[in-house]
Amino acid sequence: MTKKVYIETVGCQMNVLDSELVIGALRKQGYDLTDTPADADVMLFNTCSVREHAEEKTYSSLGRVRLMKKDNPEIVIGVLGCMAQKDQELIRKRAPYVDMVVGTGQLAEVPMLVEKVKATREPQLAVSLARSAASRDEVEASFVSYDPTRDPTMRPTPFQAYVRIQIGCDKFCTYCVVPSTRGPEQSRPPAHIWQEVKQLVDQGCKEVTLIGQTVNSYVYDHGDRKTRLSELIAGMHDVAGLERIKFVTNYPKDMTDDLLDAVRELPKVVKYLHVPVQSGCDEVLKRMKRNYTADYYMEMLHRCREKVPGVAVSSDFIVGFCGETEESFAKTMELVRVAKFKNSFIFKYSERPGTKAADRFPDDVPEDVKKRRNNDLLLVQNENSRANHREQVGKVMEVLVEGPSRREQSATHQASGRQSPPGGVKQLTGHTMTDHIVVFDGPERLIGQTVRVTITDASPFTIYGKVLTDEVTGVDLANVDREPPGQPQPQRPDRFSLPLV
Ligand code: 5AD
Ligand code: SF4
Repeated sequence: MTKKVYIETVGCQMNVLDSELVIGALRKQGYDLTDTPADADVMLFNTCSVREHAEEKTYSSLGRVRLMKKDNPEIVIGVLGCMAQKDQELIRKRAPYVDMVVGTGQLAEVPMLVEKVKATREPQLAVSLARSAASRDEVEASFVSYDPTRDPTMRPTPFQAYVRIQIGCDKFCTYCVVPSTRGPEQSRPPAHIWQEVKQLVDQGCKEVTLIGQTVNSYVYDHGDRKTRLSELIAGMHDVAGLERIKFVTNYPKDMTDDLLDAVRELPKVVKYLHVPVQSGCDEVLKRMKRNYTADYYMEMLHRCREKVPGVAVSSDFIVGFCGETEESFAKTMELVRVAKFKNSFIFKYSERPGTKAADRFPDDVPEDVKKRRNNDLLLVQNENSRANHREQVGKVMEVLVEGPSRREQSATHQASGRQSPPGGVKQLTGHTMTDHIVVFDGPERLIGQTVRVTITDASPFTIYGKVLTDEVTGVDLANVDREPPGQPQPQRPDRFSLPLV
């Protein structure tokens, strides 16, 4: 009988990728993935520590598991990732039945640790000693052992994949736990990244999202020269079959002109930049240690839009950070009003033990005030999103079709009796080159293809479209298969020609 592994993942794209790599490695040991906790021989929880809410979610999942472990003591329970790195003692205290606690730098050891638990029934702990102890060797070892074992079934879709280009963070924003859970910032060698991208494309992947905590700070030092993000992207641009390159998340102070030139001039690069500002008030930004002012951010935003016409920009905000007055919050409201982000992710400040903010500043904004500010900011952002979406109506956009829309999925899931349109046509969804989500009707066989869609309608959250009729043949693209792979590649300008090694 095959052994089964169940995994729950919370948190960012980094965690989604980590889970994919862990499952890939376990598959090699004969494990199959299951969606049903009761069927599992191994249950893994890949955790996030960025906000308290995410941690509580994991503890409540672990609470549910306690009874299962009572019924079936053979089951191996593992807590992985950021919480494991930060709170190994606390996890063992709150959930003593947990068998493995594995930090972010030790995930490659999961298959070995599972076997050890099975053989000895002793709890296994594997975490980095301290930030300074996370050596380059350790990082490289984890990359190398992971890369060949990626698991396509864990990806967002079979034709989209995350690629880690950098780990850790050196910025030390005072509210943030990441520098202590993910260690020092280290960029991965370009040749390894290029090789991984080629491998992914060989497996049918069309879009790669390069991920790093501050992805635009990427720089690999070869000793005699350096490779920056713009060059890294240029170096993978001509991989045949690769259609889209995205990168997240950007740090405002590292948004250099060479990168913006690359985004503009390289046709496969998605025209979308996620550049969190966090607050519109200089005093708050200073307490956050973001190292820029609101004016600096707005100038950077202006430069992004000037250098990359039509670029979509999104942001993150923390409301209710220590010492945020009504006056400072009003400045954030004003920034959102004028910045006109495509969308924003808004979070209520959550004090994280061990961070500089927790040590230095009282968490003095009451919860109800945080909630109100969150809602107020969201209202302004939603107005902007609605306007941004309305501007798209009438445009023709290239959409990489990802799958059935959420409505379609829940209709299928609930077997609600909802009739699909005739001829196998379903409501599908995908992203445009500016990261807009589009919903439209089409046959399922379009999934995984790039189609042209005319935008017909918009809400604050979604834009709606119609698959375009092919102008040359007059045939509705919804009824023909698109050209097979091998169609002409978008060409990059000469000055971005770099050898692909
Ligand atoms: N509380 C609330 N939000 C936070 N973020 C990071 N740390 C905290 C915290 N302690 C938010 C930031 C960051 C996003 C990933 O999470 O906005 O950009
Ligand atoms: Fe955290 Fe700041 Fe680093 Fe982002 S840049 S991961 S917010 S410390």
